[in-house]
Amino acid sequence: MRQDAFRLISPDGTESEMKIHRGTMGPDVIDIGALYREQGVFTYDPGFVATGSCASKITYIDGEQGVLMYRGYPVEQLAKHSSFIEVSYLLLHGSLPSADELAEFDRTIRVHTMLNEGMLNFFKGFRYDAHPMAILSAVVGSMSAYYHDTTDADNPEHRDIFAHRILAKLPTIAAAAYKLNVGQPFIYPRNDLNYCENLLHMLFAVPAEPYQIDPIAAEALDLLFILHADHEQNCSTSTVRMAGSSGANPYSAIAAGISALWGPAHGGANEAVLEMLEEIGDASQIGKFVDKAKDRNDPFRLMGFGHRVYKNFDPRATIIREMAHKVLGQLGRADTPLLNLALELEQVALKDEYFIEKNLYPNVDFYSGIIYRALGIPTSMFTVMFAIGRSVGWTAHWREMITDPNGKISRPRQLYTGSAERDYIPIDKR
Ligand code: SDX
Repeated sequence: MRQDAFRLISPDGTESEMKIHRGTMGPDVIDIGALYREQGVFTYDPGFVATGSCASKITYIDGEQGVLMYRGYPVEQLAKHSSFIEVSYLLLHGSLPSADELAEFDRTIRVHTMLNEGMLNFFKGFRYDAHPMAILSAVVGSMSAYYHDTTDADNPEHRDIFAHRILAKLPTIAAAAYKLNVGQPFIYPRNDLNYCENLLHMLFAVPAEPYQIDPIAAEALDLLFILHADHEQNCSTSTVRMAGSSGANPYSAIAAGISALWGPAHGGANEAVLEMLEEIGDASQIGKFVDKAKDRNDPFRLMGFGHRVYKNFDPRATIIREMAHKVLGQLGRADTPLLNLALELEQVALKDEYFIEKNLYPNVDFYSGIIYRALGIPTSMFTVMFAIGRSVGWTAHWREMITDPNGKISRPRQLYTGSAERDYIPIDKR
C-alpha cells in the first residue's frame, strides 16, 4: 500500500485507496473523491464535524492546544502589536504590509465608508425596533443592487473594490441600524477618524453637541475586531464560501454569512450570554442554571461555553477576559455585577465534572458582551459587532474560494431516509 494513502476494503472485498494530503500543520486529510465511483457509497458526517471542505492558507486553529493563527501569526502577537486594519490587510493579502502599503490601505478604507445616498432610504422602511442583524443582512444584500458593475470575480480590481467596500461600509450600516433603533439621526462617517473612532462617532455622536471619543473604547473595539476577524471554516464563513461557489454576487454571499452568524449557537451567542447572565441574576442562582445546562432533557445550554473545535481554552476568550478587567477598570466599572457574575459562573463551570469531561470551556462570546455593554453598546448590537470584525475573514475566504483554479460549486450529498417509490393516489381514493 502506498505510504501516502489509506486503504478501504468494502464488505464485499472491493479495495479503494484514498490519497492522503498533508498540510503545513494540523491533521492530514484523506481524499474521498473516488469513493462513490469505486465503492458506490457516500461519506456521512452531519454538521461536518470531521470533514475538510477545502484547502486554505488563511487561518489555522489547533483545538486541543488552543492555538489560533492568521496567516501564520499567533493571534496573541497580533492582539498585542497590530491593529484591525493591519490584520485586515494581512488576512486579505497574506503578508504584513509595509508602512506605505498600510497607509494606502488605511486611506482606501477611510474613503469608502459612505453609503450610496439612496441606500439610506432602506432604513426608513424598517420598524424602529427591527433587530439590527436583520437590518445588516438586508442592507448588505442590497449592496448587490448598487454595486453590480464591479462584481466580476475574475477581475482582481473588482475583487479589491468589493473587499474595500465591505470592510469600509459595514460599520456605517451597523451604526445606521443602531440610530434607527434609538430614534436618532444618522451620523455620516468622517475620514479624519480611524476605523474604530469612526464607528464610535457614528454610533454615539448627535448633532446637538460635540462627541468626545474615548480612546480606551476605540482601543478595546480594535482588539475585539482583531480577535473576531477570522476563524477558519466556521458556520458563517462556510456559508459565504458555499453561497459564493455558485458565482452569486459577492455582496449576497456576505449577506448569507451575516444571516448564518446570527444564530445563538454561533455569533448570536454573545447576545445570548448577556441575556443568560441577566436571567441568572446573582451568584446564588448559578448552581440552578449549571444543573439545567447539564440536564440532557433540558434544551438550555450555558451560552458562551463549548466550541466545535476548541476542546481547551479558546485563546480569544483568555485575551478578552484580561481585556474586560482592564477596560472596566479604566472606565471605573471594574466591579460591575455582570463581570463578577460571569467570573463566578466560569469558576463554577470549570470545576464541574460535566464541563470537564466534555471539554467545555469559555469561548470568544463569553466575555465580549460584557465589554460591549461597558462601552454603551446595547445587547442587540453585539452580534453586529461580531459581524464587523468577521467581515474581513468572510471576504478573504470568498477571494480564496473564487480564485481557486480547482474550485467548483459546493453540492453535498445525503443519506436518503424517506419513502420508497410509491404511486400517486387520486384524492377521492385517499
Ligand atoms: C462561535 O466554529 C467557530 O469557529 C465558531 C466561532 C467563530 O469564531 O466563528 O468560534 C464563534 O460560534 C463560538 C460558539 C458560540 N456558541 C455558544 O456559546 C453556544 C453554546 N455552545 C453550544 O451550543 C455548543 O458548545 C457549540 C454549538 C458551540 C458546539 O457544539 P458542538 O460542537 O456541535 O458540540 P455538541 O453540541 O455536540 O456538544 C457536545 C456535548 C453535548 O452533550 P452530549 O450530547 O455529548 O451529552 O457537549 C454538550 C452537548 O449537549 N454541550 C453543552 C454545551 N455545549 C456543548 N452543554 C451545556 N452547555 C453548553 N454550552
